[in-house]
Amino acid sequence: MTDLILTGGTVVNEGARAHADVAITDGVISAIGLPGTLGDAAEIVDVTGLHLIPGGIDMHVHFREPGYTHKEDWETGTQAAAMGGVTTVFEMPNTHPPTRSVKEFREKQALAEKACVDYGIYGLLAEDNIDEIPGLIEAGVNAFKCFMGNTFGNLPSPSTGAMLEGFEIIAPSGLRISLHAETASIMAWRQAKLEAAGKNSPLYHIAARPEVVAIEAVARAAILAEWTGARVHVLHISSAGELRPLAEAKTRGVDITGETCPCYLFLDSSDYDRLGSVIRVNPPVREKKDSIAIWEALQSGVVDMIATDHAPHTPEEKTNDIIWKADCGFPGVETQMPLMLSEVAAGRMTLEHYVRISSANPARAFGMWPAKGRIAVGAQADIAVLDMAREEVIRAERLHSRGKITPFEGRKTTGAPIHTIVRGRFVQRDRTLCDGVRGHGRQVTAIQKMPTPTPRNTDQSLAALLQQQEAAE
Ligand code: NCD
Ligand code: ZN
Repeated sequence: MTDLILTGGTVVNEGARAHADVAITDGVISAIGLPGTLGDAAEIVDVTGLHLIPGGIDMHVHFREPGYTHKEDWETGTQAAAMGGVTTVFEMPNTHPPTRSVKEFREKQALAEKACVDYGIYGLLAEDNIDEIPGLIEAGVNAFKCFMGNTFGNLPSPSTGAMLEGFEIIAPSGLRISLHAETASIMAWRQAKLEAAGKNSPLYHIAARPEVVAIEAVARAAILAEWTGARVHVLHISSAGELRPLAEAKTRGVDITGETCPCYLFLDSSDYDRLGSVIRVNPPVREKKDSIAIWEALQSGVVDMIATDHAPHTPEEKTNDIIWKADCGFPGVETQMPLMLSEVAAGRMTLEHYVRISSANPARAFGMWPAKGRIAVGAQADIAVLDMAREEVIRAERLHSRGKITPFEGRKTTGAPIHTIVRGRFVQRDRTLCDGVRGHGRQVTAIQKMPTPTPRNTDQSLAALLQQQEAAE
């Protein structure tokens, strides 16, 4: 017996749309057919006039548990995701303690069991945990995170030497390494000078992290990825400049993907005065020319996906007259979809392309395709049901995240996910969280094994020579 039929809606995938009904059985899409042709089900929901898209897949959220649960935890974070039409999140390791060993990974897995949407867990690649990496791979982390630049949690950025070794170890697993691609040493130097000179206003945050920190970091990471065959992902693309090393690496055949976040598309240096320290995020929101270039790159495919860097903090932590003392980041997992759908409503992007960048591309890049990222028979029934005409206003008190302070306060949006379905179950319905869904979320385990990439390491003949020498000794 079919569990659920969604009838009368328009199904939109990355490549096409159709007026069709969707049947779901045991959490999986069991049939798609012309309206009214799929027979009976335990529940039939009329979605006439609405659009059905694959649920959002957000590769970049900070849910803060363990350690910083006054900002967020796995329950509130995934509730915010459910409200935002997001059915899978990948959670970052800069918790306290960080996710840098098997023990800490297991502890986080236990905490994540209360999630209401599906999730992946990042393991850390840092200066001091290289020996832990094989264990983390074996234990089942979904990807790795490498903070090339310092940020919240003050994790030590690895030296290029440690990074290279980490890449060498991770490459054969096929797991992707997500990079906070800003070079720590440049920023530390700049910020120290600005602080010493008493330059404390918000705009100096950009001055401390000029575009070159991102350009240099992306270029360097791409070279290490090419050398080792590691798959990499550039997080929160903020500048026009870093698009060039990203596009060049793609052209060279490096398996590199990139994401941007709404703040880099919708805000720029002209907003610092109005928003003050609330706008502080790493990397910084830059200039109008950057947002224009990133928007174009998102349309052309140089930037592969939209994520949120959901980074909640309390109002006290976000508000400070001295910019260097304000915590970096803000929540986003709940507001990304309404913000982006507003652009679809305004005709700046097709809904099909939005599906590609919000769901299909992340699913492919992180090994979840074809189980996730599409509405198709056999795929998991992760669906956001959209009312493309629904108008809302972003307000702190309406957010489900614990850290509510957002630079998008007061912004009007058009288009919203009015239901969110995770593996066949409503977790959000009619803009309200559903009861009894605590713990419905599961870790994405069946990461599709991708073929092992080929390293360009040209030391191979040296390796053979060294082996001979060691055998003779
Ligand atoms: C993030 C956080 O608060 O955890 N902050 C941020 O400014 N982006 C860390 C990060 O993603 O770099
Ligand atoms: Zn980051």
